[in-house]
Amino acid sequence: MTDLTATPSTLLELSQPEWVRDPYELYRILRERSPVYWDDIMATWVVLRHADIAALSRDPRLSEDRVTPLLDRLPADRRAGMRPLAGALSDMMLFNNPPRHTRLRGLMRQAFTRKAMEEMRGSIEHRVTRLFRAHRDRGRLDVLNDLAEPLALDVVADLLGFPEDERHLLIGWTSLLHEFFVQSPAEVQRVQRIREVYERVAAARRRSPQADLTSRMLAEAGPDGATEDELFANFLLIIDAGQVTTSHLIANAVRALLLNPGQLHLLRDRPELLASAANELMRYDSSVQFTTRMATTDIEIGDYLIGPDEPVTLVVGSGNHDPAKFADPGRLDITRPQAKEHLSFGFGPHYCLGAGLALIEIQAALATILAGTRTLSLVTSDFRWKDSINFRFLSDLHVAFEPAE
Ligand code: HEM
Repeated sequence: MTDLTATPSTLLELSQPEWVRDPYELYRILRERSPVYWDDIMATWVVLRHADIAALSRDPRLSEDRVTPLLDRLPADRRAGMRPLAGALSDMMLFNNPPRHTRLRGLMRQAFTRKAMEEMRGSIEHRVTRLFRAHRDRGRLDVLNDLAEPLALDVVADLLGFPEDERHLLIGWTSLLHEFFVQSPAEVQRVQRIREVYERVAAARRRSPQADLTSRMLAEAGPDGATEDELFANFLLIIDAGQVTTSHLIANAVRALLLNPGQLHLLRDRPELLASAANELMRYDSSVQFTTRMATTDIEIGDYLIGPDEPVTLVVGSGNHDPAKFADPGRLDITRPQAKEHLSFGFGPHYCLGAGLALIEIQAALATILAGTRTLSLVTSDFRWKDSINFRFLSDLHVAFEPAE
């Protein structure tokens, strides 16, 4: 149990229940003490201000290659067990720097244009309506497990062209980086089975291309443009990056609206605020709270000097609540003009490739829930959060409602 009378001095406090309930208060305390600091317990630099996070996210002196340094630090016997997952991770665009990052991201550019995303809106709305209707007459819904998770899973699977009858392989996905550390044999096996699916889908799409990401990626790669390992790793990245981030964001968004009934009513009355509300909800309580980089050289930031090979944690959740950027940051305001400038999708060259898609899913989920209900309330306000300091993931979110006529 944390001593609440002591001023917290490490980001690791996020593992304590009182800060899980409100990490933004912890960020405030840490930021006011020092907006940039070396965290002895986490062995990383911690960056808490919006402006510094945005600047460092674009700074080429920071590297995204976090897999190799992690692997290098481990004893040889542990390293061996991590190889299968490490191989896939190190071929993902997310863990690469230019020029390789640019080439790998280029494989998927066409699949994520605004036009391509908008073409998915109809099927997303259709899916979320079907999921909601299945629970309509009961007047109860677990927003996370009954609606958001199956929605995000099917959207990612539709995008990739993942066969309907093999989607069970995607259920219960957590995070590959997490699995990398725990070295669960079941996950290594799951990744291998997903690779078999990828190989079958890719072979079929090479023969007969369709309007999915896999076909577009293969067309972009051409005959010698990318290795099979690279293509698979980035196929896997979509599963890893697109599913749980979005489903938990939807749950966090519904929770935030229910805890701020004035904003919920405003959104019911003025559905034209949906796009602005989605951005504010992303700012207010993101499913992703931080990302990390490795310094490649000396980097001066304010009075501090980050040294080569030192890890840097960019706390986007803190940047999103920095009063220097967002006035009265603890207030949910779905009309907030700068909400779009949140950092929840990252910033700079690694800006979330699926941001447009995630926003469509969030809007579709909120619109369906609001249109389908006359009243909406939390079944309990005793929220259960998953054990993670980086991801802000609920275990469930039970709501009760009276259906709309
Ligand atoms: C609300 C949901 C989401 C959140 C909060 C989120 C958050 C993020 C963040 C913070 C990054 C940057 C990480 C860094 O700089 O280290 C990122 C990158 C990425 N995201 Fe998302 N994401 C979401 C949804 C999605 C979806 C739906 C997809 C795809 C279907 C996706 C695909 C990606 C990819 C491929 C990258 C890597 C981009 C690169 O390295 O160039 N994300 N995301």
